[in-house]
Amino acid sequence: MKDHVRSNWQNAVLVCRKCSKKLDGGFGPDGDERLAKALRKHLSLKKGRKAAAGIIEVNCLGVCPKGAVTVVNGAQSRDWLLVKRHADLDELSAMLGLTPPDSGVSPPV
Ligand code: FES
Repeated sequence: MKDHVRSNWQNAVLVCRKCSKKLDGGFGPDGDERLAKALRKHLSLKKGRKAAAGIIEVNCLGVCPKGAVTVVNGAQSRDWLLVKRHADLDELSAMLGLTPPDSGVSPPV
């Protein structure tokens, strides 16, 4: 039996599922998508470990902001983000070091 599996993830981003549920959407072009899904779509990420980055919904992270979603960037886990409803996904992607595939800009190393 294998003791590890490889993934293509360059980074892992944790998104609070409970915050997302409380906002009932709030992101994406029509403002009706949950943050994790909207971000995955925005970055054209595949699913699972074949994706270039992992955007994972997790249980409550204990911050519970009003009108925002708690997000942890695995590469910068000391500063958590509180992402407000209708946040600009380009800006958020840049803060997370993730870039859309057609942007022509490589993520910071
Ligand atoms: S509900 Fe999201 S951090 Fe608690």
